[in-house]
Amino acid sequence: MERLRARGEDSGRVTAGATGSDSGLDVMGALRRSHAAASITVASVGEEVVLAGWVQRRRDHGGVIFVDLRDRGGLVQIVFKPDTSPECHERASGLRAEYVILVRGRVQRRSDETVNPKLPTGEVEVLVDEVRVLNRATPPPFAIEDDPDVDESVRMRHRVHDLRRAPLQKALRLRHRLFQAVRASLSDQGFLEIETPMLTRSTPEGARDFLVPSRLQPGSFYALPQSPQIMKQLLMVAGFDRYFQIARCFRDEDQRADRQLEFTQVDLEMAFVGVEEVLACLEELTVRACAESAGIEFPRPFPRISYAEAMARFGSDRPDTRIQLELVDLTDAFERSDFRAFRGVVDSGGIVKCLPIHDAEALSRGQIDRLEAMVKKELGGKGLAWIRVDGNGDWQSPIAKFLSEAERGAIAKRCEARPGSLLFFQADDATRANAILSRLRVDLGRRLGRVDGRDHELLFVVDFPLFEAAEGGELTYVHQPFVAPHEEDLALLDSDPARVRGTHYDVVMDGVELGSGSLRNHRADVQRRIFDVMGYGRKQTEERFGFLLNALESGAPPHGGFAFGLDRWVMVLAGAESLREVIAFPKTQRGQDLLLEAPSEAEDLQLEELSLRVRRPAQ
Ligand code: AMO
Ligand code: AMP
Repeated sequence: MERLRARGEDSGRVTAGATGSDSGLDVMGALRRSHAAASITVASVGEEVVLAGWVQRRRDHGGVIFVDLRDRGGLVQIVFKPDTSPECHERASGLRAEYVILVRGRVQRRSDETVNPKLPTGEVEVLVDEVRVLNRATPPPFAIEDDPDVDESVRMRHRVHDLRRAPLQKALRLRHRLFQAVRASLSDQGFLEIETPMLTRSTPEGARDFLVPSRLQPGSFYALPQSPQIMKQLLMVAGFDRYFQIARCFRDEDQRADRQLEFTQVDLEMAFVGVEEVLACLEELTVRACAESAGIEFPRPFPRISYAEAMARFGSDRPDTRIQLELVDLTDAFERSDFRAFRGVVDSGGIVKCLPIHDAEALSRGQIDRLEAMVKKELGGKGLAWIRVDGNGDWQSPIAKFLSEAERGAIAKRCEARPGSLLFFQADDATRANAILSRLRVDLGRRLGRVDGRDHELLFVVDFPLFEAAEGGELTYVHQPFVAPHEEDLALLDSDPARVRGTHYDVVMDGVELGSGSLRNHRADVQRRIFDVMGYGRKQTEERFGFLLNALESGAPPHGGFAFGLDRWVMVLAGAESLREVIAFPKTQRGQDLLLEAPSEAEDLQLEELSLRVRRPAQ
């Protein structure tokens, strides 16, 4: 913990007994903080220290007053005794939670009975000779504790109090260290930090844009960047070679625990590289940043898995491979089945997949029923078929009676069923079947402790498809339209675009997509063909992307890059469940900042200046 330098002219010679005034503005007098609370240890016993912070708690014990003083690094107990300094003691009796105080005193050992082994400073306390109340405080809306028993919306409304809690203080310190390490690593690797505009035009990253009306161009709108994607490509064409930016991105999409309307990327781009150079740079960056910010060491090279393999084995393109459960595909075994629920799905192009869990006696029938209800209600599944192999090898199952001998044989063999096995089935379109089984895999794998011993895991997922079918059946890009196809799949762009693999790669940590990137189309003709596949007419392409195509035609080097979601990265390192625990002022699920009460209505005058008229929603 840091030891703060004493400042102020006579900080070493503060007059004993001074109590300071709590009126007036110069409430600190000549007294300046000498130490951080958490830095006080037995090594400081006997030293005089000056501490500044907030009153966490006050306890009166038969004349002696104990106060837990909290600052940004931790807590230390300070003691007021009536016989040491009656004036201080008197003052201390008026202290309330969250009052801001400055104290001078001497560090002493706590008596054996009062040692607090849970507190890093629990062996010592500071006997106070001087106290100044720098400011009073209204009673806090909830206790400033690690786990306050209070609704999240209350925490959000009172975010200033919330941010005083140790977990948030810790998370934001971790965030700071990660920023520093990222900057240092990229700078050392020859990247230039360059800013790109916030008031810009639409970048297709697949979300809705936030629009900002222009006053000077009535009826026109800027878009806030969903990412600096296009700008960084232009910087490559302009010859900057290696660029990075810690960039704010804006995406108007539905909020989830791992999504915010406004978030931060570590965005980077490199020229004259292929996939291998980008991945090597990402390894260097992630390994260093995780080590320097969180003390976590990762082995290199990172394991790589293709998109196709990740989906087949784990049902997810961001697998947590520490979980020792894998999916089994049984689609072909049900192609001619008499079990209509499964056959119908296969006939209409869907899949049948199974999650086998061995030694699963711990899962009760009641738990299976609850899982089935959850699958139907929360995940949109049609059901959750299951087979339990009992101690005699007999199958307990709601579907066994519909299965032919051949089907039973295929299931038993491929799932390696044995007494104690529990098999869960999904028959559905591939996306939903995989999503449901992958969720069960993670939930049950964690619940049953089927995890290998590693605390964290980092891996690359590579070879994503370039396109996928959109709702209406036409093809759309999987990530964004600038991803370069694999050289050897180029011919498929015209004949069978759905099979074209992109040069896209993701970094996945502990089952969370930390970031993604790709090589880009540096040739305008290839970029045009991709817009064609997506059904953009020539006119639309020129209107939206003419400037990019012109730039590509002006001498674009081969280039590629990546962007990490910095908030997600901190969330995983901090072991937090939500981005809201690692962002100072986040938005709620409904996109609101409850502290500032944003968004809010605009004044009529503002609307007029912007040439806007608002259609208010009906009450
Ligand atoms: P992508 O859209 O995959 O790629 O975004 C990169 C990373 O940003 C994070 N992220 C988010 N974090 C919080 N809230 C959100 N709403 C949110 N959306 C995305 C994720 C994600 O992996 N321009 C490309 C990158 C590139 O190709 O270089 C891009 O933005 O961690
Ligand atoms: P049913 O014949 O519809 O009662 O279904 C028998 C069992 O199969 C029940 O346990 C259902 O939950 C399950 N089931 C039905 N349809 C599907 C499906 N598409 N995928 C997985 N399980 C299913």
